[in-house]
Amino acid sequence: MSDETHVLTAPPADAAADWTIAQNWSNYTPEEHATWDTLFARQSKLLPGRASEAWLRGLDVLRLDKPGIPDFDVLSERLMKLTGWQVVAVPGLVPDDVFFDHMANRRFVAGNFIRRPDQLDYLQEPDVFHDVFGHVPMLADPVFADYLEAYGKGGQRALGMDALKYLGRLYWYTVEFGLVKENDGLRIYGSGIVSSAAESRFALDDPSPHRIAFDLVRVMRTEYRIDDFQQNYFVINSFDDLLRATVETDFAPLYETLKQQPDLPVAHILPEDNLLTRGTQEYARDKEANRIHSLP
Ligand code: PHE
Ligand code: FE
Repeated sequence: MSDETHVLTAPPADAAADWTIAQNWSNYTPEEHATWDTLFARQSKLLPGRASEAWLRGLDVLRLDKPGIPDFDVLSERLMKLTGWQVVAVPGLVPDDVFFDHMANRRFVAGNFIRRPDQLDYLQEPDVFHDVFGHVPMLADPVFADYLEAYGKGGQRALGMDALKYLGRLYWYTVEFGLVKENDGLRIYGSGIVSSAAESRFALDDPSPHRIAFDLVRVMRTEYRIDDFQQNYFVINSFDDLLRATVETDFAPLYETLKQQPDLPVAHILPEDNLLTRGTQEYARDKEANRIHSLP
């Protein structure tokens, strides 16, 4: 996952000027490989019939089912042949300009550490499981691969227009938490969902969240939550549609309009929304009630 908070401002001593570090694959312990295997087994049982065809195909063609934490060099070699992407290791979150520069040049930045065994269900920082299992299969899809490169270039532009807030929401609601309409129903392609056992059920099956047809400006107006399941998901018709809607649009005038409009709170519905499912919002309401009741 990625949001606007970045911990470091200069590359640490062991990192290169572009913030990359060695993955040090041979340093992973058997326990760390076992954590990957546990997470992998759990998610791969859940995802057939839930994850998008593109994501499932990516997992397969990249042979990510091999036990243990993947070696980025091996992965990069396969990806390079398929779509020209590489996976590079970085020490946690990097500055926005660094993130966009890598992305614009088809380098996907991934954390090399893996969560502790007591963090199997949730952690806020992106670890190697989220980054590789969640994101990398989509990089094997030629259309999505183009989308992410274009997004990186769009990020470099947005930095100069003080519009990262808006572009960041597009990333959140597509790359991290996107759903896609397929022949047999809705499917997950967002990495934040496919790498989470609970949210890969919740996003598709739970009656709580709204599921709204993707609209570029609508998405860029919408706030998001980083602390719990999403209260709204946005659904694209296809990756071709997503690519077209974003690449063929000049965002500069949109940013200007967005700056004049109020942001939309999560779970807010507009009359013009194309709602695929109107959520009950029960999950978020219960959580909030419990939070208030448990205050000292
Ligand atoms: N077309 C966008 C712009 O004008 C760039 C972009 C492309 C952003 C694809 C996101 C995804 O800034
Ligand atoms: Fe992510």
